[in-house]
Amino acid sequence: MEEKYKILIVDDEEALVLFLAKLLSQESPDYEIRTAYNGEDAIKMLEGFSPDCILQDIKLPDISGIEVLKAAKALDEDVQVIMMTAFASIETSIDAVKMGAYDYILKPFKAEQIKMVVKNALTKRRLLRENKRLLEDLKRANKELQIAHEKLKIAKAEVDKELEEKLKILSELHKISDSLNEELDFEKICGGVIEGAQKIFSVQDVALLFNQEESPDNLVVKYLNGFDGLMESGMNLDFYHPFFNKLKDQRTPQIIEYQEGEIKEICIGLLQTSKMEPFGTFMIGNRNNTESFAKKMELFDTYLNTISIALQNSILLDTLERSYVDSLLALVKAQEAKDRSIKGHSSRIARMSHVMGRRLGLSEKELKILRYAALLHDIGKIGIREYILEKPAELNKEEYEKIKEHIDIGIEIIKPLKFLREAIPIIRHHHENYDGTGYPDGLSGEDIPLGARILAICDVYDSITNERVYSNKLTKEEAINFLKKYSGTKFDPFILEKFIKVIGHEGA
Ligand SMILES: [Fe+2]
Repeated sequence: MEEKYKILIVDDEEALVLFLAKLLSQESPDYEIRTAYNGEDAIKMLEGFSPDCILQDIKLPDISGIEVLKAAKALDEDVQVIMMTAFASIETSIDAVKMGAYDYILKPFKAEQIKMVVKNALTKRRLLRENKRLLEDLKRANKELQIAHEKLKIAKAEVDKELEEKLKILSELHKISDSLNEELDFEKICGGVIEGAQKIFSVQDVALLFNQEESPDNLVVKYLNGFDGLMESGMNLDFYHPFFNKLKDQRTPQIIEYQEGEIKEICIGLLQTSKMEPFGTFMIGNRNNTESFAKKMELFDTYLNTISIALQNSILLDTLERSYVDSLLALVKAQEAKDRSIKGHSSRIARMSHVMGRRLGLSEKELKILRYAALLHDIGKIGIREYILEKPAELNKEEYEKIKEHIDIGIEIIKPLKFLREAIPIIRHHHENYDGTGYPDGLSGEDIPLGARILAICDVYDSITNERVYSNKLTKEEAINFLKKYSGTKFDPFILEKFIKVIGHEGA
């Protein structure tokens, strides 16, 4: 539907007003005409009627036509005002045009003239309105575009940040996975797992728990960082502990929430073999709770798989190592079985060396090597003739030289086994004396490997406190006195002192 145009005619000549109203009504059905006979009435009508065009006499009976023009423009700056003027007032009309009137028309005028000027004024009014509307539309569209652009910028920054973080985490995971794959030492792998988790998940609290071989429902906390007040290294937990409630049934990583204490959230998952048999659990704790672990579950699962493989490989290697050692021990036991006096000797000194090594602050790995060395230290004796080993009297020089050969024979036996390589120096030097008078190399003091110095004391103590073919066994006190006689010559005095304390205390 076409828009109606509102026209207000203002003049004190009633005949003229009626003539014009009629003329314009006939001109177009779209013209809506109102009339006023003085300025005051015209101004009153402006607000309610909102004319598009005002056709007015410049000289009104009450106020000046200029006043009406001003009032109309104040309400609507696009209203088109046509001044009707007698020749005498032409100056005022020109002023009116300067003040914003559309045009003026001289009286008397022809009907065609009026129709034309009104039509033109309305066309101008329509174009102005359209122009304004288009401008508004353009402004709005621009604003919307700007908002959309800002939103896009924010979204892009978020995506970029997320992507950068993901890349960082992935590269870290890659590095850790590579280093874990290269490493086979269980202790080092566990250390790497803890360190890696701290980096990737930005946490302080990390724990590795392993199922106990003898009772798989029990877990022991093996490697730990943080988790103060919740766990301690070496602590036993059974599967009824709240940590494992959901994990036990669902077998997928779980988040446990806490209301009290520093740690607000724990993420826990099962360490599983390639056959999906659980062998432990892995846990990380969230202290600040700024970002929930819920967002990191996928990453946690990936990490869990990576470390499960590395840990399982190391455990498998450990099992393989143990089966090698078991085979070698069978040889040692067969050797010991022949001589009642040395039965169980290797196992006993392995136990003693382990206790001593722990007291002296050796690492788990060093303790393992020391244990292997103690178990296998005399394996070379299987290459020594029985009559020398079992001689019920002291050995002569030639026999003594012969028995020294058990060192080299032993080393030849274990040398092909890579994992026992670090045990070789201990085995080689377990007959060295602290003062340099021992064999095979005459090393002295701290040049003798620490493990060999420990082993030497344990070896002699066990030999003299057990029945032997050529002498009676000594009591604990006698044995301690015997060892003390050789402090600083045969034995490391510092280690001996510790050993005597341990023996005295534990009654070993
Ligand atoms: Fe020996």
